[in-house]
Amino acid sequence: MTMPNKRLEVMQTIEQSMDGLLDKYLKPIDDNWQPSDLLPDSREPGFHEEVEELQALAKEMDYDLFAVLIGDTVTEEALPTYEAWLMDIEGVEAEDKNGWSKWVRAWTAEENRHGDLLNKYLYLSGRVNMREMEISTQHLINDGFDLPTGRDPYRSFVYTSFQELATNVSHRRVATLSKQSGNDRLARICGVIAADEARHANAYLDFVKRIFEIDASEIMLALEHMMRMRIVMPAHLLRESGGGIGELFTHFSDAAQRIMVYTTQDYIDIIKSLLEEWDIENITGIDDSAEKAREYLMALPERLQRVSERVRIPKKQFEFKWIAV
Ligand SMILES: [Fe+2]
Ligand SMILES: [Fe+2]
Repeated sequence: MTMPNKRLEVMQTIEQSMDGLLDKYLKPIDDNWQPSDLLPDSREPGFHEEVEELQALAKEMDYDLFAVLIGDTVTEEALPTYEAWLMDIEGVEAEDKNGWSKWVRAWTAEENRHGDLLNKYLYLSGRVNMREMEISTQHLINDGFDLPTGRDPYRSFVYTSFQELATNVSHRRVATLSKQSGNDRLARICGVIAADEARHANAYLDFVKRIFEIDASEIMLALEHMMRMRIVMPAHLLRESGGGIGELFTHFSDAAQRIMVYTTQDYIDIIKSLLEEWDIENITGIDDSAEKAREYLMALPERLQRVSERVRIPKKQFEFKWIAV
């Protein structure tokens, strides 16, 4: 697909500010938290005792909450898929080592700590069938994901803005529920990850805001397109051993809805916050088709609200192979 040059020009314009953006939204590596800061140190004499405590608390966790934590981990661990997709966006030019590919590498380097930390926690928890979880992870990376973005930077940054906000919500809620059940370590783990997601969300929101300043009609149309196609979760092709592609996703998503970690209401609220953040209502200087797109977008939250009232979530828990019985 060839794109109008305007998109490349816009990417190059934003790229000129990339050094500042990297400083603003990402943290210096040597001072950043690392997974081992939040886990028992296996060199210490108290290691076994700490692990025992970690296991006792993990055992007490709500079944759905634990399943969601594993699904979140698998989602984070499919990072190679997201990095490859971002590197391929028009204007990123992986080979060139330009500002954009620098951004993607630096973002990936931060994100990589999320799956690493959660995986190690789950390994120590004594409650996970690690082999089953690893099979799901390998499948998810192998299956990739299927987004209506193509290589378009506008559509892609709308997607990442949404997604980083969504992962912030879900990790934050798992942190809160963990805290309530007395699992302070897991609360800290999900809390630091949620904070990373919030910084990343701010970065992508900023990229899109800058695009609105230069190419408002086209980014409005990209936003409309993504909303019409609905934002699918990165793990929408999730499966378990012996299962079909994508078959596990609904069960994962139902569990997340039951414990209110990520719900249809959150989906609607994120759309509302995007509309507010980019001040869609007051964007000026757009053409007729973008004007129509704006009308669709402004009416969308209310329309989804009506539909969401009819959504019913199954009450019965699903038995995940991931969880050791
Ligand atoms: Fe993440
Ligand atoms: Fe993220």
